[in-house]
Amino acid sequence: MLEKLKNLEESFRQALKNIDSEAKLADLKARFLGKKGELSAILKTLSNASMEERKKLGQAANELKDRLTARLEEAKLILDRKITDAKLAADWTDITLRRSLMAESVKESGQHPLSIVQRELEDIFLSMGFDILDGPHIETDWYNFTALNIPESHPARDMQDTFWFKDMKHLLRTHTSTIQIRGMEHKTPPFRFVAPGKVFRCETTDASHEAVFHQMEGMLVGKDISVAHLIYFEKTLLSEIFQREVEIRLRPGFFPFVEPGFELDINCLICSGKGCSVCKQTGWVELLPCGMTHPNVLRYGGIDPEEYTGFAFGLGLDRLVMMRYGIDDIRLIHSGNLDFSRQFASC
Ligand code: DAH
Repeated sequence: MLEKLKNLEESFRQALKNIDSEAKLADLKARFLGKKGELSAILKTLSNASMEERKKLGQAANELKDRLTARLEEAKLILDRKITDAKLAADWTDITLRRSLMAESVKESGQHPLSIVQRELEDIFLSMGFDILDGPHIETDWYNFTALNIPESHPARDMQDTFWFKDMKHLLRTHTSTIQIRGMEHKTPPFRFVAPGKVFRCETTDASHEAVFHQMEGMLVGKDISVAHLIYFEKTLLSEIFQREVEIRLRPGFFPFVEPGFELDINCLICSGKGCSVCKQTGWVELLPCGMTHPNVLRYGGIDPEEYTGFAFGLGLDRLVMMRYGIDDIRLIHSGNLDFSRQFASC
């Protein structure tokens, strides 16, 4: 009988190797541990055994049951993770075409101010030859941190308060920079793309901070791309966005995925630089962190940094909306308040 239990465990182990779906896992559980399963069948034969033997075998059978149950639970976790990873890998889209085909009527009907600004920006980028990419909100550590040159234990991880899932492997993306890596994986240089979307941070909210906000990531990779291209590009971009000259200042900025990195600030358009809650009384608003893509990041994206260089930037969309419409509290943007959104319907 002990021999039978041993054989059962071995055939369970073999069968477990071939499990690649939830249905198969459920079948396996029924086959071995179900009421009419193999373990029950063995236990039924116990009634013929002596009291002494029954005790011994019963204990062995229970221990086996616990082991198999634990293995099944473990297999379920691994399977769930595989399924999520596969979904994440597939959840990547080039929406340039969809965006270009979007009916004019949609653009002109009532829209949230964020959508209005995002669409306008997309039009500017499309006219500059950029593609528009989309990516998943739920990300892996790799895309959000490691592949962006932010290894585990790097202090930069603390700069962004992350919403982690219980498995500590998945997270809500803290920035759209994740799509730098996804974009590089899918494109062959030279290329340029932007990626608008929601990002999530575990932050206390106030007039200029939200736990859910919006960014537009941009990346351009090609031969001999230099800081001069980056600066020229940003000036052109900002004059397109604001349709006028805006005062800007460039400061060195630290982001592990770019080297050198910069912070580009613009003069606060809400208070014209006098100081208000949006610009934290400084007269300047951080608008466009950017820099030259770090060679490690190019490498992680499958691009040879000896052959290609590039730059990247992250636009804060909510700030732009606030500047444009004179909104002084970021929380209004995500409030879901229709009276708020309707004010922009005819824009
Ligand atoms: N991902 C950064 C953040 O959310 C913003 C950023 C900085 C994006 C520099 C970039 C960049 O592409 O080059 O704080």
